[in-house]
Amino acid sequence: SIAAHLRDHANKIYIGSALAPSHFTDAQYSTIAAEEFNSLTPENEMKWANVEPSKGKYNYGPAEKLVEFAQQYDMIVRGHTLIWHQEVPDWVSVLSGDDLHEVMIDHITTLVTHFKGSIYAWDVVNEIFNEDGSYRSSLWYNNFQTSFIADAFQAAAAADPSAKLYINDYNVEYTNAKSNALYNLVKELKSQGVPIHGVGFQTHLAVGQIPSDFATNLARFTALGVDVAITELDIKQNGQSQDAQAAAYSEVIKDCLSVNGCVGVTIWGFTDKYSWISSDTACPWDSNYQAKPAVAAIEAAL
Ligand code: XIL
Repeated sequence: SIAAHLRDHANKIYIGSALAPSHFTDAQYSTIAAEEFNSLTPENEMKWANVEPSKGKYNYGPAEKLVEFAQQYDMIVRGHTLIWHQEVPDWVSVLSGDDLHEVMIDHITTLVTHFKGSIYAWDVVNEIFNEDGSYRSSLWYNNFQTSFIADAFQAAAAADPSAKLYINDYNVEYTNAKSNALYNLVKELKSQGVPIHGVGFQTHLAVGQIPSDFATNLARFTALGVDVAITELDIKQNGQSQDAQAAAYSEVIKDCLSVNGCVGVTIWGFTDKYSWISSDTACPWDSNYQAKPAVAAIEAAL
């Protein structure tokens, strides 16, 4: 019999994974990636320090490998990420004021233009809030206060008017000070006519910690006229059973499906073999590529 795969069930929303092209030589890795998912996000390859390690010297190769993989297997690509406090190359972090602003706009324009037409959505700004809802101290905030946010969205929109432009963050899955600040910002940007089209909820969670108001929280954002997406899902087993983990994965998929305007779910790496979570087992596939109960649970939920 021909086994069904996650992407065969993903009719209402896309189902994606973060991928790294350095693992493509691992045949099981690339086989599962291509068979199961209809969306991918470069795990690190489009981050500034990797893609433009020195001024004007772009290292597009690894990101292009991912885009080619997506084209080969009919997957969409989420571009990740243009402006972040991490992975800022040294040559950028020494700049300030007008020089920094010029470099920021140039980076966004060049990168988004290069991949124009192959990117479904870009995470334009990533992780700009503290837990209490204040703005995170960063090169960007410390130089420009909040004006870099609208400027980044405008530059990305000018470079690729067809890409969906997202703001992305973690610990915003439920109603709290941080998600309230995010909500207020998105509302303000929309009222100012800033081209923002979506909000990404990273959703790095643990079994026992799936917020009961996740869907309600997603829905207040879509009411502002933006899409929402689960962009970096992983669920630490947290000492619980694999079945409990499967139920948690199912709950998150169902939360997305219950909200009109929740467009897709991306898992932040599908296998424990290469997961950024090394202290726990948070992925649907184990480190030997065996499907955990989470895989069937996601399939059933989709
Ligand atoms: C992580 C990658 O998974 C790691 O390989 C890398 O060392 C650090 O970044 N939030 C994000 C992602 O937006 O880009 C991060 O990815 C995980 C947290």
